[in-house]
Amino acid sequence: MPWGNDLETLILPVFGDIERDREAIGKAGRILKEGGLVAMPTETVYGLAGDALKATSARKIYEAKGRPSDNPLIVHISKAESLNYIAEDIPEGARLLMERYWPGPLTIIFKKKDIVPFETTGGLDTVAVRMPSNPVAQETIEAGGGFLAAPSANKSGRPSCTTAAHVAADMSGRIPLILDGGPVGIGLESTIVDFSEDVPSLLRPGYISFSELRELLGNINIDPNINGAISSDIAPKAPGMKYRHYAPKGELKIVRGSADCVTAYINSAILKEQGEGIRTAVIASTENVALYDCPLVKIAGSLHNEEEIGKNIFAILREMDSLNVESIYSEAFDTPKLGMAIMNRLLRAAAHKIIEL
Ligand code: TXA
Ligand code: MG
Repeated sequence: MPWGNDLETLILPVFGDIERDREAIGKAGRILKEGGLVAMPTETVYGLAGDALKATSARKIYEAKGRPSDNPLIVHISKAESLNYIAEDIPEGARLLMERYWPGPLTIIFKKKDIVPFETTGGLDTVAVRMPSNPVAQETIEAGGGFLAAPSANKSGRPSCTTAAHVAADMSGRIPLILDGGPVGIGLESTIVDFSEDVPSLLRPGYISFSELRELLGNINIDPNINGAISSDIAPKAPGMKYRHYAPKGELKIVRGSADCVTAYINSAILKEQGEGIRTAVIASTENVALYDCPLVKIAGSLHNEEEIGKNIFAILREMDSLNVESIYSEAFDTPKLGMAIMNRLLRAAAHKIIEL
């Protein structure tokens, strides 16, 4: 269905003014209970929420995002007890993770109960569940009936949204309400762990790292499709992995190696491209920024502050589009804890174009 601009999108601040926030969240709750959609902040990225137990709401989410309907949605809950209502059995390992990391940036996959419509799970008999720690998200879940399906609030294929302005850029005219809770705290989507088979498996790296999970669980696999390698013969467990993702309009290339080699390579590429009239930009660490001969250098953050890089990376990819950049070179950010998650998003945004020096 083509989208007109007939739907007016209201943006309401939820910054901690108790009365005003309560009113905004109350409005969100009414829209959700009537089967409508609301964008809400979470601690990871903004989500596009609808009632997870209504097939019609799930369909609206796919339509608003332009997302293929076989790519399942995460169900967000605000109380651990709610899990029993939607998940068939809860393995011991999952219990350990929930005790340690819920509420927080961790999604767990369980066998689903019949109450969860197949529209929400993209036809799968499993359900992804997450309990966010952001208080606005928690209150919105309560107000909306306790079970909200919420994918990242970007249009399908675009970088995830870390501010309400990003959501407005993608969703204005498509949804009635955006709750603006300011910039998110983490900036990378939740870590996803699958418990639907005997050995748990990491489907998407996030703020909670693989080594933290392994320490707690002992035995955990990394899904072979984790970085969405397009040529793989193995069907991805998280269907979202098979789709092109996070991609800016310009061609993104990642350059990995020592700082000297990387800056020298990128500087000579810039020189060549400038000669050809190509609009080129660099995504750099604070440590290397002064080494580039390029008018457009965006700082992702310091290599000694990986949380800063995680928080900035999606906004920078979006900025590349607003600056009409045609060619982008990014350093590799292989930092200790978040490097796996940051590089997962960057690699997919670059369609795996990586230059190893
Ligand atoms: O941090 C987050 O998780 C954010 C915020 C809004 O909570 N949400 C989010 O949702 O990132 P989304 O839809 O953009 O990504 C969900 C990923 C997709 O790759 C999807 O394929 C996978 O989770 N997924 C969902 N349900 C699944 C299931 N039952 N089995 C395997 N993968 C599943
Ligand atoms: Mg997403």
